[in-house]
Amino acid sequence: MSLLDRIAEQIRACTRCRLSETRTQAVPGAGPEDARIMFVGEGPGRDEDLQGEPFVGAAGQMLTRLLDSIGLSREVVYITNIVKCRPPDNRDPRPDEVEACREYLDGQIACIQPALICTLGAPALKTLVDPTASVMRLNGTIMQRHGLTFVPLIHPAAGLHRESMKQPMEDGFRRLGEILAQRG
Ligand code: URA
Repeated sequence: MSLLDRIAEQIRACTRCRLSETRTQAVPGAGPEDARIMFVGEGPGRDEDLQGEPFVGAAGQMLTRLLDSIGLSREVVYITNIVKCRPPDNRDPRPDEVEACREYLDGQIACIQPALICTLGAPALKTLVDPTASVMRLNGTIMQRHGLTFVPLIHPAAGLHRESMKQPMEDGFRRLGEILAQRG
């Protein structure tokens, strides 16, 4: 069993925070261990909690479309979240829950060693890059932090639920496509 699989096993059995009490199942992440690009969302929603897979509901279908639009297949990227269990009623994850789950995300990043980490939405950006960062300002830009390379993006659910966010969300992914093309 690979270290990434062992982390997934630990996540499925985790009781480090209160989210373990209300989840159906934990959602460790999906994708190949040698993925060059990693996407980090906020936390599982209802569909993800039921299926045990990240980004399989409406926001996930939007993510798949956005990836397709820049020639990226879901099969080649690693997709996970900052918290691995669904917050009740899809509320924002609390700081102590993010903190309790942090070691798993750091372990996944260390295993995969992605060339690029795309944060989806403000919570992932603030957790991984900078608590004061603005997703609207940084959307689709490339930045280095803590020895890692990030491209902050607008969360697919934002584009789904707010018409005014759709174009900026698509622009961010288009810029990601340009960044990938330049890097070869
Ligand atoms: N939204 C997220 O942030 N993550 C998922 O896995 C699904 C929806």
